[in-house]
Amino acid sequence: MIKLNNLVANYTTVRGQVSAVDGVQLEIPSGIILGVAGESGCGKTTLMKIIYGDIGFPLSLPSGNIEYNFRTEKGEPVTTKNIKNFWFKRISYIPQSSMSSLNPVIRVNQQFVDFLKDGQRKADVLAQVRTYVQELGLPAEAVDAYPHQLSGGMRQRIMVAMATFFQPDIILADEPTTALDVVVQKGILLLLMNLQEKMKNTIFFVSHDMGVHYQITHKMLIMYAAKAVEYGDSSDVFERPLHPYTKLLTESLPTIGDERTRQGVAGRPPSLWDDLRGCRFADRCPLVTELCRTKEPELIEYRSGHSAACHCAEKLL
Ligand SMILES: Nc1ncnc2c1ncn2[C@@H]1O[C@H](COP(=O)(O)OP(=O)(O)O)[C@@H](O)[C@H]1O
Ligand SMILES: [Mg+2]
Repeated sequence: MIKLNNLVANYTTVRGQVSAVDGVQLEIPSGIILGVAGESGCGKTTLMKIIYGDIGFPLSLPSGNIEYNFRTEKGEPVTTKNIKNFWFKRISYIPQSSMSSLNPVIRVNQQFVDFLKDGQRKADVLAQVRTYVQELGLPAEAVDAYPHQLSGGMRQRIMVAMATFFQPDIILADEPTTALDVVVQKGILLLLMNLQEKMKNTIFFVSHDMGVHYQITHKMLIMYAAKAVEYGDSSDVFERPLHPYTKLLTESLPTIGDERTRQGVAGRPPSLWDDLRGCRFADRCPLVTELCRTKEPELIEYRSGHSAACHCAEKLL
């Protein structure tokens, strides 16, 4: 079990502090793929950074903590402060696929190599990684390539290989296939799913593509404007959503064979700088009531293992 306890993540800006993750409280069973969905800007990446312990100016964690599903070699608890010591070994991060974010003169394996410090012979481990990559059906040389030498799809496959090499307990995959074409995307997701099935890692899989979530996740977390608004088994979240936002997100899913572009939800989320009193979805919600304008809904379990933060959730039961 991984416990996220009342996480509040802030960015310091010239305008002051803004909470990009605001009071997220969840218990996630180990060994599953948890999908994290929600429109751009809702805090998905910030949540991943917090879990990875990649916290530094302008990002801070003014309140909350995480209970990880593994301990230090001495049996002590791992925290967001010491988790860096376990990068790649127990927790790894697969970033978004965009090439533009990568420095072209830095090898794809640089972060991995940087982490192989004290007492670990880099050359030996890299040789093992090349073998592992080949076992996955990928060219060994790709491990040593520069980003521009690889296709986006190949680079992400290598990222998946490096992220799984040490069989970490947790893998954070932050839109790993966004911007790749559908066929390539499918291959990468299959690779990740097959490895997860063998290793039983806990994967946090971030995507705004509900179709992909539907296919690969066991549980879903829906975020809206820095809040967790729905959480439950994927079958429940997709087939019997309890939050009107989730309902709109899943209704915009095309049926199989339907190639039309997805419509999404009309309107936009509020700015985190707005007055966020009441329910943050109120302005876009078809079920909005007076109460929604004034009282913030809490995340409440309405069905076994299925929670939503909505004053009207009972109407959707
Ligand atoms: N470095 C930063 N400084 C200030 N605000 C930021 C920074 N990074 C992200 N944010 C803000 O935090 C919110 C959540 O961003 P993010 O976690 O990247 O969302 P998502 O991954 O869901 O698109 C957004 O409103 C974004 O503008
Ligand atoms: Mg993001």
